[in-house]
Amino acid sequence: MIYLNGKFMPIEEACIPVLDRGFIFGDGIYEVIPAYSRKPFRLAKHLNRLQHSLDGIRLKNPLSNADWESLLEQVIAKNDGEDQYLYLHITRGVAKRDHAFPVNVPPTVFIMSNPLLPPPAELLISGASAITAIDNRWIRCDVKAISLLPNVLLRQLAVDVHAIETILIRDGFLTEGAASNIFVVKDNVLLAPPKSHLMLPGITYDVILELAAANQIAHEVREISEAEIRAADEILLTSSTKEIMPITLLDNKSVSNGKPGAMFTQLHTLYQQYKATHMRGNVPAGTKYL
Ligand code: PDD
Repeated sequence: MIYLNGKFMPIEEACIPVLDRGFIFGDGIYEVIPAYSRKPFRLAKHLNRLQHSLDGIRLKNPLSNADWESLLEQVIAKNDGEDQYLYLHITRGVAKRDHAFPVNVPPTVFIMSNPLLPPPAELLISGASAITAIDNRWIRCDVKAISLLPNVLLRQLAVDVHAIETILIRDGFLTEGAASNIFVVKDNVLLAPPKSHLMLPGITYDVILELAAANQIAHEVREISEAEIRAADEILLTSSTKEIMPITLLDNKSVSNGKPGAMFTQLHTLYQQYKATHMRGNVPAGTKYL
């Protein structure tokens, strides 16, 4: 079951007018939230980012955080799977085609959920391949906009060569992946590009940096040059749906010895422990969301 503008229905019955500004202009924003054991993961952080995206496109939040929480709980309850990923999508509503914002038009609000499957074990054991490309997106990549054409085209470059991701480089520096954040490891130090308008502030990216800080893993948040990506000991990819994955082949060349490294193994273990501790009933007293 999905949620669309106040009603729950099977996805096959959900219809959007062709004049929806999401369809006509890509005028909207979205969020992807994992739910483990039927509990949204880091909900407060995702709702903060949703608000940031709405502010970025000057659209009023149609719901309070309490309403979002309640709706998401209902969507989770109406769908199969202990682990699901929720997709929330808000557009500027339905109006005669005109670039200018419509006046007094209610936004379109859509939520769906799908089963969340961990990445294939094979990719975690052997690693995955990625390619690089010039980041030719707009310069508000901190807004999770539904107009994803540049990301779609960049990601397809990877799909065309059977790689899992396209790693993006802007003005000689790493930004992120077409649908993920990217970390580099050099000499046992975890390197992360700084958050800016040039990348999406990943929720998983934050978890990884928090885990590094809490476990005395040396880490630095700073600009990472293209040369540093190519000379990396390890390259790690993070996202809500892929968690953390090792990239062992970049542009058809092995990353270091071509095997997932020690940093990946440690962070992957810590991430699984974090999920288990926080999502399977062991939430510290007084903690509402994580
Ligand atoms: N994408 N950067 C981009 C461009 C992304 O699209 C995503 C996630 C991320 C990682 O953010 P997070 O850790 O909060 O998932 C970074 C989602 C999963 C998607 O579009 O399906």
